[in-house]
Amino acid sequence: MSNWHKGSWRNFPALQQPNWPDQDHHDAVMKRISTLPPLVFAGEIRSLKKELVRAGRGEAFILQGGDCSESFANCTAPTVRETLKVILQMTVVLAYAGGKPVVKIGRMAGQYAKPRSSDTESRGGVELPSYRGDMVNSPDFTPEARTPDPERVLQGYFLSACTMNILRAFTRGGFAALERVHAWNNEFVKNSPQGESYEKLAKNIEMAITFMRSAGLDPDNIPQLNQATFYTSHEALLLAYEEAMTRQDSTTGDWYDCSAHFLWIGDRTRQVDGAHVEFFRGVKNPVGIKVGPAHDPDEIVRLLDRLNPENEEGRIVLITRFGADKIADFLPRLAERIKKEGSRVVWSCDPMHGNTYTSKTGLKTRNFGRILDEIRSFFEIHWDVGTVPGGVHFEMTGMDVTECTGGGREITDQGLLANYDTTCDPRLNAEQSLELAFLIAEMLR
Ligand code: PEP
Ligand code: CO
Repeated sequence: MSNWHKGSWRNFPALQQPNWPDQDHHDAVMKRISTLPPLVFAGEIRSLKKELVRAGRGEAFILQGGDCSESFANCTAPTVRETLKVILQMTVVLAYAGGKPVVKIGRMAGQYAKPRSSDTESRGGVELPSYRGDMVNSPDFTPEARTPDPERVLQGYFLSACTMNILRAFTRGGFAALERVHAWNNEFVKNSPQGESYEKLAKNIEMAITFMRSAGLDPDNIPQLNQATFYTSHEALLLAYEEAMTRQDSTTGDWYDCSAHFLWIGDRTRQVDGAHVEFFRGVKNPVGIKVGPAHDPDEIVRLLDRLNPENEEGRIVLITRFGADKIADFLPRLAERIKKEGSRVVWSCDPMHGNTYTSKTGLKTRNFGRILDEIRSFFEIHWDVGTVPGGVHFEMTGMDVTECTGGGREITDQGLLANYDTTCDPRLNAEQSLELAFLIAEMLR
């Protein structure tokens, strides 16, 4: 790995970085973070990579989901628990009805920094810096709130640790045991058609476990039944923070970014000669690359050469986000090209970011039907080309929000006003997420 070190990205242009008003203060905070414990361990990252290898071969399926932007205020046990519950429910549906093991990755425990299309936001003639995620500034529209504050990066680290801790407790301490499959059904989803289908499926699983017990097996002693393996992820945007979290693994001597298991490079920061790509060249984590309509297939090929020169399986997840009306124009050509190059990638579908529109109410939203259309096209195109649809990437929450239109409850433009709570992009609610899981399970089968 010639010339790489964890700070070598500083020699390359870094887009989407905040303008910290006091650089010395910022640097002192980063120094402090670099001495704090890692949030994840290299061995866990290697396990995830093995699971991603299976997803790339079509032997497993990735479910990645969580907030567009986590908020500090929502770092509470109920919020984390409700989102985890829906991901566990979706996992059961995909694994049981779809017949494949599910690789569970939360956009959680560190999804606190956002790229923005504009550096500033204007309201009523006043221009302020854009909100860039809770790790940078606050969404309130005042000069104080919008001024980037490095103390927020430190707070983001600690809140990521809190989230990680409760996630580990929930997934290891019995909450995620398959025997509790009924208990994950959300109160407000229970009586919906999705909730009822889920109950039926849960009953079958429960019967299978009862049978195992009567045959003399004890689920309490089978980790696959009484625990869940759950990984964390976020967009690696603030490179100084990611650098501070990068540690050398004592067992292998390799470098790992220990802020999360899985990190991705956004559609706006994946320049081949940019700082984000330079940083990722040297860390061993699996890396996601978002690919939107404004890409050149040659550039993606160069990017893969740079980030994965050994063509290692499980290293790269290409997360495409074209939009339901554009996917047919872009994905076939890209998939053919990557196939021809022989590059080993895992293909995942983000059906959220290419389907955003402004509703009549002025709120940013996405339509359930369009989201589903993009997923369906994603499967069909990959089957056609002979590549593998390996996973999905959602912005979703376990809370009962009204941010995306459509779905079983047929949320209308007007209906968005009932509980629109996101600090950034609109998320699927628990019911819409579960409904999608059933529809995707059909495609997987
Ligand atoms: C995101 O995932 O929240 C995001 C900003 O995505 P993209 O980089 O694909 O626009
Ligand atoms: Co988003």
